[in-house]
Amino acid sequence: MAGLPLAACAAVAFHLCLLAASSSTPRLTPSSEGRHGGRTAYHFQPAKNWQNDPNGPMYYNGIYHFFYQYNPHGALWDIGSLSWGHSVSGDLVNWAALDNALDPTVPFDANGCWSGSATILPGGTPAILYTGIDAKKEQVQNLAFPKNTSDPLLREWDKPSYNPVIPLPVDVPGDKFRDPSTAWLGRDGLWRIAVSAEVSGVASTLIYRSADFLRWERNAVPLHSSRAAGMVECPDLFPVKEHGNDGFDTSANGPGVRHVLKLSVMDTFQDYYMVGRYDDATDAFVLEEPERGDDVRNWRRLDYGHVYASKSFFDARKNRRVLWAWANESDSQADDIARGWSGVQTFPRKVWMDKDGKTLRQWPIEEIETLRTKRVGLQRTEVNAGALKEIVGVAGSQADVKVVFKIPSLAEAETLDPNWLLDPQKLCGEKGASVQGGIGPFGLIVMASGDLQEHTAVFFRVFKHHEKYKVLMCTDLTRSSTRARVYKPPYGGFVDIDIEEHRSIKLRTLIDHSVVESFGAGGRVCITARVYPEHAATSNRHLFVFNNGTDALGVSKLEVWELATATVNIVGDGDCKYCRRRRP
Ligand code: FRU
Repeated sequence: MAGLPLAACAAVAFHLCLLAASSSTPRLTPSSEGRHGGRTAYHFQPAKNWQNDPNGPMYYNGIYHFFYQYNPHGALWDIGSLSWGHSVSGDLVNWAALDNALDPTVPFDANGCWSGSATILPGGTPAILYTGIDAKKEQVQNLAFPKNTSDPLLREWDKPSYNPVIPLPVDVPGDKFRDPSTAWLGRDGLWRIAVSAEVSGVASTLIYRSADFLRWERNAVPLHSSRAAGMVECPDLFPVKEHGNDGFDTSANGPGVRHVLKLSVMDTFQDYYMVGRYDDATDAFVLEEPERGDDVRNWRRLDYGHVYASKSFFDARKNRRVLWAWANESDSQADDIARGWSGVQTFPRKVWMDKDGKTLRQWPIEEIETLRTKRVGLQRTEVNAGALKEIVGVAGSQADVKVVFKIPSLAEAETLDPNWLLDPQKLCGEKGASVQGGIGPFGLIVMASGDLQEHTAVFFRVFKHHEKYKVLMCTDLTRSSTRARVYKPPYGGFVDIDIEEHRSIKLRTLIDHSVVESFGAGGRVCITARVYPEHAATSNRHLFVFNNGTDALGVSKLEVWELATATVNIVGDGDCKYCRRRRP
């Protein structure tokens, strides 16, 4: 990736450069709407080619670094070609692309530089631990350091010749040992990392300990193992506050701290998490909800839509934990090749633990507000039974939508068949937006053609269940595109809130061309979807609020902001024009 615009900034001017980039980003105009063909405007994407997992996000010396699994040679995943793409940002919204941080060049990663994490060591040196596919095609764990820590962009990375620091263990198959986590320091002064492996046929999250970050020793007992899953990937163990939504550095532990273990399950291609207590004396993780058991597929879903391989980092600048996840394409490989790119990252999310001590809350980082341009709003209005209200005045393809629904009465709630509890996704399919209900379906119709032939519905439905109420949240893609060979499922999950007490529920949806990323009930349930409407190439995307329940519904507040296009890895003329414009 040569000739990059912002990378050419002088070190000192770098912040100014990014600042200027964000303040001078072009506004979305109707004529620019059709140009994307699914390419996003403010989600992270490299300029071209394939990307998958987020790798090694970190905040270092005033700059955010984001690495990602990248195939520099094409738009498809290619087992031997994976590199670490590298971008930098001053605000997690506008990104400048740098040269790859890691490419497969040496015997211990000759067949690919796979996923891993970054840790900032005491004294301030960042270290990357990543999986190398070695010359024998076996998975091993390697270390890399910046070649020059006084380069604020950390452009070049050195892979010491003593690698691999963790060779393949004898009881692990060569293709099932990968994805080292960010390291944390135990109170005994030893570093720990989690690594995914299959041990004697059991999907395991191994713990390795080290005094010097170079020599690593495996604990006899894994942090977690699950006979039910084939292989888990990309483990992330991080501390959360018992009370409050600030983040913790990954090594935090002690009173007031709980831990979240997130695992990505290969069989289902889904991310799951549990809140628990992690004891660094025994390296044991005890679930807050033991009834969910060892089968990781019974754990809570990080996102009920189409994301995988998520990874978080501690953002010391804003004292928060931020999570990224990969949202793969949902159309065909032929489409990837035709587009010349594949894969986006979710918009960075702040994560914290809900007051209930079990649910992770996720919310787009506040920096998204820097992209807000036009705003339209509704205050204290009603949506009648069967009504569809169009929201006009903003471009429906790049928007941030926030709505608060008020439920005047729960009397009409449908009774929940207990079998549905096991499969909310199926329930979303059977009881779609067009199937009239009691309380709901109500929500948003987004990325819709004028005639509604194509539309994506994001909605809630309230059921009665044993004298209590259950809220279902869905994103239904079945009518999202008239194109064939596109994955168009209904997605859904139950929302853990007491609707009887609150009588109101919030929905936030970020729309970005092919991404519809939704946060229900203040981020207790997230659903990320990829959409490919045909009409997007030639006509406007419409946005509606709807209610297909029996009674009228209140909307206490609705706000929609059109979002500007962020500067994301634009490969330009190699000239940092923003820097020059900004210099006094
Ligand atoms: C998850 C994953 C990781 C691996 C990487 C390879 O999507 O399979 O386990 O390191 O992708 O690209």
